[in-house]
Amino acid sequence: MSNLNKETVTSVRHWNDTLFSFTTTRDPGFRFKNGFFTMIGLEVEGRPLLRAYSVVSPNYDEELEFFSIKVPDGPLTSRLQHLQVGDQVLIGRKPTGTLFVDNLLPGRNLYLLSTGTGLAPFMSIIRDPEIYEHFDKVILTHGVRFVSELAYQDLIMEQLPEHEYFGEIVREKLIYYPTVTREPYRNEGRLTSLMESGKLYSDIGLPDINPDTDRFMLCGSPAMLKDLTAHLDSRGFRETRGGELGHYVVERAFVEK
Ligand code: A2P
Repeated sequence: MSNLNKETVTSVRHWNDTLFSFTTTRDPGFRFKNGFFTMIGLEVEGRPLLRAYSVVSPNYDEELEFFSIKVPDGPLTSRLQHLQVGDQVLIGRKPTGTLFVDNLLPGRNLYLLSTGTGLAPFMSIIRDPEIYEHFDKVILTHGVRFVSELAYQDLIMEQLPEHEYFGEIVREKLIYYPTVTREPYRNEGRLTSLMESGKLYSDIGLPDINPDTDRFMLCGSPAMLKDLTAHLDSRGFRETRGGELGHYVVERAFVEK
């Protein structure tokens, strides 16, 4: 297991019956770009059981944070959800990813489109002061089924705008757009429908999207990625591929069990 670090759990936060987050110690040699993911897991019967997890915490934090679903019969998450402070987790030493600014053509507005635990890499990205140097507006969307799944709202809506160093730039540039599909909320409906109808843009007071100005980072379930990339393609946007910069990037590592 030489490619894995053993880290210690330092806190656990359960959001509801289906979602939780945990923090761990961080090896000083563990370096990553904000928005990256790495393999995370547990030793089960003497072997590592691993899944890809995006890092929630920004890369200047001393600890690492992860955001996970709890699936009762999921091979890893059925075990991971019982983590306690002091437990050990395995963390892959080679974080990687596609969600970073240099992987996109320059633009004016950056849309971070997420559903479910796809929010994770964007929690790291919205705490990267550099992102705000590249864009006029950074729009964080989070689509979930139920209100209780809107994790990290205290951090996004209260702590970040008051942040000692970049609170001011966050207040000026970060727009948070949570939307719920299966119970009443101030914003309702799937991101796909909200983008097709244009309601998302009118709600946040920005013009309809245009390949000249708008850039996207996507993280969510395979079905969400399929539908959103099809929508963006139909509107004339192109994905970054094979070193050729485009208008959007997609994170395809996603834990479903
Ligand atoms: P819905 O409740 O209509 O299925 P999940 O937990 O299944 O990953 O879903 C998280 C959120 O993403 C839910 O609000 C869900 O809406 C929505 N969603 C599911 N599939 C898609 C899709 N293909 N495109 C956009 N949003 C989706």
